[in-house]
Amino acid sequence: MIEDGLRIVGSAQTNRAMEAELVRIVKKALGRRPAAPRRDGTGQLVYPWDAAIAAAALTYHRTSTRVVRDLYASTARRLEPLYDELVADAAGDARDWPDGVASLSVEVRRMDAFAAGERQVVGTVKNALVDGLARRGRRLRVDPERPDALVVARTDDRGRVLVGLDLTRGTRTRRGWRHEAGAAPLREHVAAVLAIEARYDPRRDLVVDPMCGAGTIAIEAALLARGAPVAAGAAAPALWPDARPVVIAGDRDLDVLVAARHNAARAGAAVVFHRGELGALDRDRLWAMAADAGAVPERGLVLCNPPWGERLELADARLLYGALGDWWRSLGDFRAAFLVANPAFEEAFGARWAMKKPLSSGPLRGYLYVYEP
Ligand SMILES: C[S@@+](CC[C@H](N)C(=O)[O-])C[C@H]1O[C@@H](n2cnc3c(N)ncnc32)[C@H](O)[C@@H]1O
Repeated sequence: MIEDGLRIVGSAQTNRAMEAELVRIVKKALGRRPAAPRRDGTGQLVYPWDAAIAAAALTYHRTSTRVVRDLYASTARRLEPLYDELVADAAGDARDWPDGVASLSVEVRRMDAFAAGERQVVGTVKNALVDGLARRGRRLRVDPERPDALVVARTDDRGRVLVGLDLTRGTRTRRGWRHEAGAAPLREHVAAVLAIEARYDPRRDLVVDPMCGAGTIAIEAALLARGAPVAAGAAAPALWPDARPVVIAGDRDLDVLVAARHNAARAGAAVVFHRGELGALDRDRLWAMAADAGAVPERGLVLCNPPWGERLELADARLLYGALGDWWRSLGDFRAAFLVANPAFEEAFGARWAMKKPLSSGPLRGYLYVYEP
């Protein structure tokens, strides 16, 4: 059957962050509030189709990985009925989605419950769309390499097969500015989730990441504050061009810090860098750095993804997380959010979290911890 949804896709457990960010963007860009979405699992939001909201999300939404227009839904469990339904839907579809589209490619996501292999589903969806649209007099080619449109098929939490246009044309966690990464860089959209979950308010908060690696968190926070377009170098104007966020990033490793500096320059993100041990970034120094940047923040916020790897010995991990806890307490009234995948963290950090939830970034299957002073 014909469907018309705007699907915002991200990582598991990020629905709340994605929804909050979309509200912020749509209010600013369009002067209204989006309707309440349907939550499909923990990492997908579905809104009624709205071209203006889709365009704003495509340009500015940092916490998602894809923006999709759902076109057809089927309850078929086998290939033949799926083909029949999709042909009929595509043939009877009065919308203008294939305009300007001469070629397409099909990708399948999360279709484990379907009684056929991935390639068979891809072939069936391709054939059904090409055949269905041909009945409307539209000729479409299949071009897996350089398609005009990427079609994505997935099952939703109700077990239906959803076929839609992937407006982002694949995941856009890579923004185009991170040419140099440290040993364990965070995915860019997850860094944005961290900032939103910590309720980063660029008008009031100084942000500090004392273990910044490639600078991902600091750069995403600075870009989020200005409402910069997600794609580096995109022509769209920033939503808050006058925002002057104060974002400070430190690391003890000179090589990664140089890489982070280059990344920030490519991203056009105003980040103040500091080389040294985390303890060197004390409260007075942070406030002095903010003053040098011409700002007087009201409060402070730590956003950080400390080392977490299995190679980190347990004793070293305890020491490091303990030092991080001591440093955070020494700052006084800073809020803090950490993404870490090491079970030693919670106890060694030595404070009771205000929020804890699973959050992953590639191989990092970790937790997001938020602390209030
Ligand atoms: C997991 S990485 C951060 C990755 C980063 N979020 C990114 O996306 O690239 C942790 C970083 O902490 C730094 N680090 C470890 N111990 C430190 C300390 N005591 N003081 C400052 N930096 C430290 C390491 O050099 C490393 O770059």
